[in-house]
Amino acid sequence: MRIDVLTVLPGLFDCFLREGVIGKALERGLVSVNVYNIRDFTTDKHRVVDDVPYGGGPGMVLKPEPIFGAYEKLSKEGPKPFVILTEPWGEKFNQEMALEFSKLPRLLIICGRYEGVDERVKKLVDREVSIGDYVLTGGELPAMVIMDAVIRLTPGVLGNRESLEADSFMDRGLMGYPNYTRPAEFKGMRVPEVLLSGHHAKIERWRKKESLKKTLKRAPELIEKLKREGKLTEEELK
Ligand code: ADE
Repeated sequence: MRIDVLTVLPGLFDCFLREGVIGKALERGLVSVNVYNIRDFTTDKHRVVDDVPYGGGPGMVLKPEPIFGAYEKLSKEGPKPFVILTEPWGEKFNQEMALEFSKLPRLLIICGRYEGVDERVKKLVDREVSIGDYVLTGGELPAMVIMDAVIRLTPGVLGNRESLEADSFMDRGLMGYPNYTRPAEFKGMRVPEVLLSGHHAKIERWRKKESLKKTLKRAPELIEKLKREGKLTEEELK
């Protein structure tokens, strides 16, 4: 998979792309990420990326020309990219969307900035995506959130065991089960006996039960949805 990012703050992506699971995935060539500075696609002397909004009002709006310029240039390289615009009022990002994006050959993420992006940019956009009901200063953190969730799902990025386990719980939208590590007792708090038993089937059952219990308490509608979609069977709910 190839992911291109258009931003006015490319430096923000440096650590994200260098460290941890994401850094390793890039190093191993499982995904390629290119971060482009929108400013590099300006054609005027002062390399202007934003301007005041028509009609007045606070803040600056990202201009359409450099973004169209970037799109036109980059889309000539390889498969047509699926274009995402990060936008506080967009569709709420979730695990299902991450899975859908992870199956695409190429993504182009446009990071919104300042008060917004010239509305005409949306002509290029396949999906406007929000990472939650709060307003950030720009779309760079949302772009990293989306990339993290998508890259994690790319085949080979997680180890086999991790991905199998994730598939049966969290990646269906169910909440994670409680985890413990050594010591078995800490400040009078004991790890549940079942986890110390070495009995894999029992552990599996306990984890599923805890995961369902938590999901039922915090997001009961999710259980109903998974049942409707056939992603959670009556057998699993026993
Ligand atoms: N830009 C600013 N806030 C945002 C949010 N919550 N989601 C996506 N893009 C944003």
